[in-house]
Amino acid sequence: MKAIVIGATGTIGSAVTKTLKESGYDVIPVSRNSSIKADIEDEGSLDKLLEQSGKVDAIISTAGFAAFGELSKLTGEDFRRSLNSKLMGQVKLLQKGLSYLNAGGTILLTGGIFAHKPWPGTAAIAMVNTGLEGFVRAAALETDEDKKVIVIHPPLVAETAVTLGMDASPYLSAIEVGKFYLEAIQNGKSGVPFLVQEKK
Ligand SMILES: NC(=O)c1ccc[n+]([C@@H]2O[C@H](COP(=O)([O-])OP(=O)(O)OC[C@H]3O[C@@H](n4cnc5c(N)ncnc54)[C@H](OP(=O)(O)O)[C@@H]3O)[C@@H](O)[C@H]2O)c1
Repeated sequence: MKAIVIGATGTIGSAVTKTLKESGYDVIPVSRNSSIKADIEDEGSLDKLLEQSGKVDAIISTAGFAAFGELSKLTGEDFRRSLNSKLMGQVKLLQKGLSYLNAGGTILLTGGIFAHKPWPGTAAIAMVNTGLEGFVRAAALETDEDKKVIVIHPPLVAETAVTLGMDASPYLSAIEVGKFYLEAIQNGKSGVPFLVQEKK
């Protein structure tokens, strides 16, 4: 089984990469600055990556920027950057990736829990995450029955909480969240958003 992980050097992506490797996947780790490079905002780089990788069993994105900020302070540029990166980057990845997916394969995009439970300051992020959900729900209707397209909504992870100066104890670690990515690939339903349960 072969998987591409775009965003593989990040907090969630490195955990997803580790989990997939441990479960037997041959993982192609990708980011803008890793040895295998692609930028989800650059369609040409996605074409090149997919041509070089060939057919795979899973394409996972844990990449993309969306702006955090108070509604009154978010600029048009903040919204445009969020749309171009996390939303359109992953939209293009899914469109292009489908023809490189083996039967039984999954494309898994990353949204986030702010799609369903926003906090103040997350208007641009929630907009993108919810947009991804609508896109994937509709894309599933045009996806071969033997392939799956899913958006996963992780909660805030403990490592990120720490970098934000927050108490990490209410949050799952990245490695715990990474296991839900494998669960989504194995048991998620095409077009149905995969919500990661929060820490009890
Ligand atoms: N961390 C959380 O608590 C959390 C919770 C819910 C949802 N999310 C979402 O999960 C995703 C990953 O979050 P994270 O915290 O793991 O981020 P992160 O630590 O900043 O890692 C992002 C990863 O994506 C790569 N990347 C960024 N922009 C890219 C692009 N345009 N093309 C290709 N690769 C790109 C980065 O490497 P390069 O810089 O080398 O490209 C890095 O490998 C984000 O969409 C975030 O909104 C995160």
